[in-house]
Amino acid sequence: MDAKLKKAVEYLNARIPVPPVVGVILGSGLGEFASGIEEATRIPYGQIPGFPASAVVGHAGELVAGKCHGVPVVVLSGRVHFYEGHAMKDVVFPARVLGLLGCRTVIVTNAAGGVDRSFKAGDLMLIEDHLNLFGTNPLVGKNEDDLGPRFPDMSDAYRADLRKAALAVAKRERIPLRRGVYAGVHGPSFETPAEIRAFRTMGANAVGMSTVPEVIALSQMGVGVVGISCITNMAAGVLKQPLSHHEVIETTARVKDRFVQLLGALVAALGGGRSGDTLMEEKKKMPSARKPSPLPAGKRARS
Ligand code: HPA
Repeated sequence: MDAKLKKAVEYLNARIPVPPVVGVILGSGLGEFASGIEEATRIPYGQIPGFPASAVVGHAGELVAGKCHGVPVVVLSGRVHFYEGHAMKDVVFPARVLGLLGCRTVIVTNAAGGVDRSFKAGDLMLIEDHLNLFGTNPLVGKNEDDLGPRFPDMSDAYRADLRKAALAVAKRERIPLRRGVYAGVHGPSFETPAEIRAFRTMGANAVGMSTVPEVIALSQMGVGVVGISCITNMAAGVLKQPLSHHEVIETTARVKDRFVQLLGALVAALGGGRSGDTLMEEKKKMPSARKPSPLPAGKRARS
């Protein structure tokens, strides 16, 4: 395995009391969830060997290991973006660490612009699929065969059984959850109205500058992904007002209670923790279509 990854995983394994079952990656302004983690071990990214550090406002940049509804979790509060100038390998490094720590499922969240005209700022969207518009791919370069295949299948990256479970959880919690395709772009400039019209024609419902690289890396590792976008603003050209990062942060602050509630309920369901039997019921009904994790024995996600 990549020596840098190995070092980070060894460092964390020595400090995390219980191996995680579910991983959570928190997007811009969505860090509140991390403060509710019980029995928390907090480790600033700067202390973890190989971890890239984020400098974006609204990204705390710490790993929080602990429990959520009794489920062992590792939460990444803050992420690095490709637009900050990091190499793709570094952008996906923390997500890969979650997989190697043993997470069976990772909930990936982000702030996104609403491309779908029926959306409004403050909506939450379950990601059904994505468009990779980064112009590159985190798997470019020599393949690390122990992480996964050279040409991973992406046809069920946002796994159908997990999506079904997420919708059931949202319904039970009475939290409206839209559904759609997330277009991942390079940034950091927001899009032009012409680009947004093009993305709409291509089938996008939301647009953002993250998530896609991590989901590709996690999929390659055989880790299940649930994607949740917080629609923080309508995308360029939809409304007669300029876009700003300030609006992104303002909206996430407005929806944070609903968002934290949904994430907690999702973790409980995915990890089978307290009050988390929804997914277990769904799982019994669904045949498992997923191939076994390609992770090395010993580091393989527990089943
Ligand atoms: N475009 C791209 N990324 C975003 C947006 C947007 O409108 N809103 C939040 N992240």
